[in-house]
Amino acid sequence: MDVFGLIGNPVGHSLSPPMHEAAYEALDLDARYVTFEPQPDDLEHALAGAAALGISGLNVTIPFKQDVLEYVEADALASRIGAVNTIDFSGDVPTGHNTDAIGAVRSLREHDVPLEGADAVVVGAGGAGRAIAFGLADEGASVTICNRTASKALALSEDVPDASGGGLEDLEGAIADADLLVNATSVGMEADETPVPAGALHEDLAVMDAVYRPLETRLLREARAAGATTVDGAWMLLYQGVDALERWTGETAPVDSMNDALRSRL
Ligand code: ATR
Repeated sequence: MDVFGLIGNPVGHSLSPPMHEAAYEALDLDARYVTFEPQPDDLEHALAGAAALGISGLNVTIPFKQDVLEYVEADALASRIGAVNTIDFSGDVPTGHNTDAIGAVRSLREHDVPLEGADAVVVGAGGAGRAIAFGLADEGASVTICNRTASKALALSEDVPDASGGGLEDLEGAIADADLLVNATSVGMEADETPVPAGALHEDLAVMDAVYRPLETRLLREARAAGATTVDGAWMLLYQGVDALERWTGETAPVDSMNDALRSRL
């Protein structure tokens, strides 16, 4: 039996176990997906233990995505983003990958949102914002990053090709000419709030939210009302998992089974 899992703290409410186990069932794979919650100080031992026990792959979440870089051989994209969300233990040394970026890109592609030459606005410059900004830029989009703390957006825009950065006061102006808007902040998760003024939204825009609880955030509701194309956060969660599963197993992921398992729990 192959064992895969998620390492983070906390991981109690994760939707990854049912999503991945639905895939194993559909593919008839003898595999399990379990969650691990080590103390932050124990990360190095936890990863060495995982390798020694023959665990095949781990997803990584808060607070370990950056720290893991020290203990795995990160690929080029994960190194540029500065975060690993997927570890593959199948080789001589554990390798680190970032499927959050490709998850965002695949979510948009599946909704027929063009990225090559697009003007994209990313709100947020934390972990999610970094991955999304690199993903979009690598597909040929020009990315404007707006963040509450403008200095973080400016710093990120120096790492991302063809990007610029600013504060939330720059948001409306940037959205006016944009083709795509992505919320990569946590705003909308706790309360019915949005980081984007409704008046800035327009029908030539595709709007994706990284927040998936609730599935329809205030931003997406207001975007729909403005006639924009909307892509909810469960798609990003789905496709980061799809990419991890395909990397680990070499199989084509049963996307519909994984999507059903996810959405039935949201
Ligand atoms: P994640 O890994 O999910 O991206 P994070 O790294 O903690 O989480 O980043 C959270 C992001 O949400 C940041 O861009 C943060 O802005 P700051 O850099 O200014 O902190 C943004 N954020 C959180 N609460 C916010 C709020 N109430 N208004 C606007 N932005 C907010």
